[in-house]
Amino acid sequence: MELRQHAGAEVVIAGRSADRPAAAPATLTGGPGAVRTRQVDITREAEIEKLFGDLGRVDHAVVTAADVRGMYSPIRSFDPAVTRSLVDTKLFGPALVA
Ligand SMILES: NC(=O)c1ccc[n+]([C@@H]2O[C@H](COP(=O)([O-])OP(=O)(O)OC[C@H]3O[C@@H](n4cnc5c(N)ncnc54)[C@H](OP(=O)(O)O)[C@@H]3O)[C@@H](O)[C@H]2O)c1
Repeated sequence: MELRQHAGAEVVIAGRSADRPAAAPATLTGGPGAVRTRQVDITREAEIEKLFGDLGRVDHAVVTAADVRGMYSPIRSFDPAVTRSLVDTKLFGPALVA
């Protein structure tokens, strides 16, 4: 976000829900400025393709998405679907973005 303020960079905040990205610009130091927001599920290849197709040239991408729901439980409660969600968001998601 400092890039936006000091280098005139355009910033796009994307998230899975519509609400949280939309609320984020107002929380930035220096105000929302020219920050744009988009809704995207990082596990869905078509959504990633559309996002980057719409944006055009992108100089830097930062991925913080993680679906950790249910991850912190005893190993005897291991749920493969939960682990897949984590891998989809933390491994495949950033790979799709890259
Ligand atoms: N908090 C820590 O102590 C800690 C420590 C080490 C590393 N990290 C890492 O730092 C990052 C951020 O952590 P945090 O604590 O801010 O996590 P968080 O509060 O759980 O936020 C994770 C975000 O990822 C989004 N997300 C989940 N699945 C998604 C998907 N399929 N597509 C797009 N967005 C998705 C969530 O969106 P929704 O709002 O739609 O759920 C949420 O906004 C994560 O990668 C985490 O692993 C955190």
